[in-house]
Order: sequence, then C-alpha cells, then structure tokens
Amino acid sequence: MTAKILEGTELSQQLMDGLKPRIARLVKKGIYPGLSVIILGEDPASLSYVKSKGKACERLGMRSETIMLSEKTGQKDLLTVISNLNTNPRVHGILVQMPLPKHIDENAVLEAIAPEKDVDGFTPVNMGRLLAGRDCFRPCTPNGIMVLLEKNNIDPAGKHAVIIGRSNIVGKPMAALLMQKRKGADATVTVCHSRTRKMADITRKADILIAAIGQPGFVKANMVKKGAVVIDVGINRVRDPEAEKGHRIVGDVDFEKVKEVAKAITPVPGGVGKLTIAMLMQNTVLAAEKLSGQHHKT
Ligand SMILES: NC(=O)c1ccc[n+]([C@@H]2O[C@H](COP(=O)([O-])OP(=O)(O)OC[C@H]3O[C@@H](n4cnc5c(N)ncnc54)[C@H](OP(=O)(O)O)[C@@H]3O)[C@@H](O)[C@H]2O)c1
Repeated sequence: MTAKILEGTELSQQLMDGLKPRIARLVKKGIYPGLSVIILGEDPASLSYVKSKGKACERLGMRSETIMLSEKTGQKDLLTVISNLNTNPRVHGILVQMPLPKHIDENAVLEAIAPEKDVDGFTPVNMGRLLAGRDCFRPCTPNGIMVLLEKNNIDPAGKHAVIIGRSNIVGKPMAALLMQKRKGADATVTVCHSRTRKMADITRKADILIAAIGQPGFVKANMVKKGAVVIDVGINRVRDPEAEKGHRIVGDVDFEKVKEVAKAITPVPGGVGKLTIAMLMQNTVLAAEKLSGQHHKT
C-alpha cells in the first residue's frame, strides 16, 4: 500500500482564491485588508517566511508591510511599535515573527498585540477562547491541518489523534482544535513530548498521527499503524551537498518509509506549510471584516 499524498500547494491556492470575493467586497468599501509583520534581526529562515507572507498578500491585492528592526531593539521600543499598529486603522493584522532575541520577553510581546488584530492567534485571549471552543483567530498551522483533513474527507470524530509536540504554536492548539465538541473535530487526543515514555507504543495506536517536533525523520515506519493518516508539520534544514543551496528541507517523518504504511501522508515541502500561509491570509481578511463591521456570521 502506498499512501495518498495530501498536497497542500493546490489546496492553499484554492483557499486563497476563495478569499478574493471577500477582499473585493472590502475594497469596494475602501478597505484594503492590511497585514503588518515585525521582524527583529536577519535570521535567513525568518526572513524567508516573512517574504512569503508579503508575497501572498501582494498576490491577493492586500496591503502588507514588513517592519524590519535591529536584533538589538529594546523591549520598550518594540512594544511602542506594536502599540502604534494596534491603533492604526489601516492595519488589520499584526504578526511578530518568532523566535525573538533572548533579551525580549515573548509573553510581554504577545500580551501587547490587540486580540482583534492577532491573526496568528497566539495572544492569551485568543488561546483562551480557542480552548473554550469560542469564536477566535485560530492559529494558522493547526487550522490549516483541520482544513486539510476536512477537504480530504478525513473526519477525526471518534478517532485517536496522537500529536507529537506540545508547543504553544502547534501542538497545544492542534490538540484543542481536534478535541472540540463540534463537526469536523470530536477526536480522542493524546499529546506526546520529550518526557513521554514508550512513545512508539502510543503513536502506533494513532488513527491520525501529527508530528510537530523539529527533528528530521523522527517518525519511523515502525511507529505508525497500518492505514493511519500522517501529518508532518516539521520544517528541518538538512545538509545536502548535491542540492543547489547545499541543503534541503525535510519533515519530522521518514516520508519514504512511512508512506508505505500510512493511508495518507503530507509531503514536506508542499504540505502543511503552504496551508499555514493561506490561513494567515484568511485570518487577516476576517480581521479586516470584523474591524470594519463587514463580518456577518454564516
Ligand atoms: N509547517 C508550518 O507551517 C510550521 C509552523 C510552525 C512550526 N513548524 C515546524 O514544526 C516543528 C515544530 O515546531 P514548534 O514551533 O512546535 O517547535 P518547538 O517549540 O521546538 O516544540 C517542539 C516540541 O517537540 C517536542 N520534542 C522535541 N524533540 C522531541 C523528541 N525527541 N521526542 C519527543 N518530543 C520531542 C518538544 O518537547 P518538550 O516540550 O518536552 O521540549 C516540544 O514540545 C519545527 O520543525 C518547525 O519548523 C512548521
């Protein structure tokens, strides 16, 4: 059995195309959905993520700005930049690219972002709402995975979903979304992390296995139940002298071997990562609609 490949590239394009009429409606009223991204320093991976976010905005005719600050920027100055964006009516979404330099208190930064402009869904207000099953900005990567499952007719209801990784941006919100009492969720969720014992015994019981660890090829075929759905969130740069740039991107799953066991699997690149951007665009449009009173619940 070779797994069905759950492609993210085309789906991401479709989801972004689906936003165009909503954007056009806003533009007609003189509102250009706007995303402001703050980045401290020049980490190449972070710069590349920021660039792709800007490109996506451009493609959709949305306003985007990248505020590039020195790595040495002090916390007070950063909070002032955020505060100005909070009150700027042209800005609908605010995103601070992580990771931040060590001298910055990440929690203080997240607390400073206005929840109604928190298109990453990382502020405590949005995280709390998510956990409570209330209306909120859903974090982009886990929400992209929920959409990917839905579009591929994979219903998590009653299934055992195992997530490896408990970060605030992927693992925890992923668990919260999958365990919601609602259509498209309703899974039984187990979360594993670096202190989990006998992890393979747990992952082998997963109907849906989600790896968000940051360790290349961590999930081996013998950790996967035959017929499971495997979602690879990992983005790892590994050396490859044969590649043009001297490196290539791989996931947290041993793709070649696991695809022989799984029923469906996401590739890296071209899987979850693409959907993350589409979800960010969706959240920014939603923020613009809500802030301008144009959002009507369906
Ligand atoms: N596709 C996308 O759009 C997207 C978005 C975000 C992140 N990512 C990628 O996803 C991966 C995870 O990101 P993250 O931000 O969630 O990472 P993170 O904050 O570093 O968290 C990693 C998690 O994995 C656990 N872990 C690490 N090594 C482990 C091991 N050997 N066994 C079991 N658990 C282990 C850690 O456990 P402890 O908590 O016990 O330390 C932690 O909970 C990275 O490769 C990142 O680049 C991709």
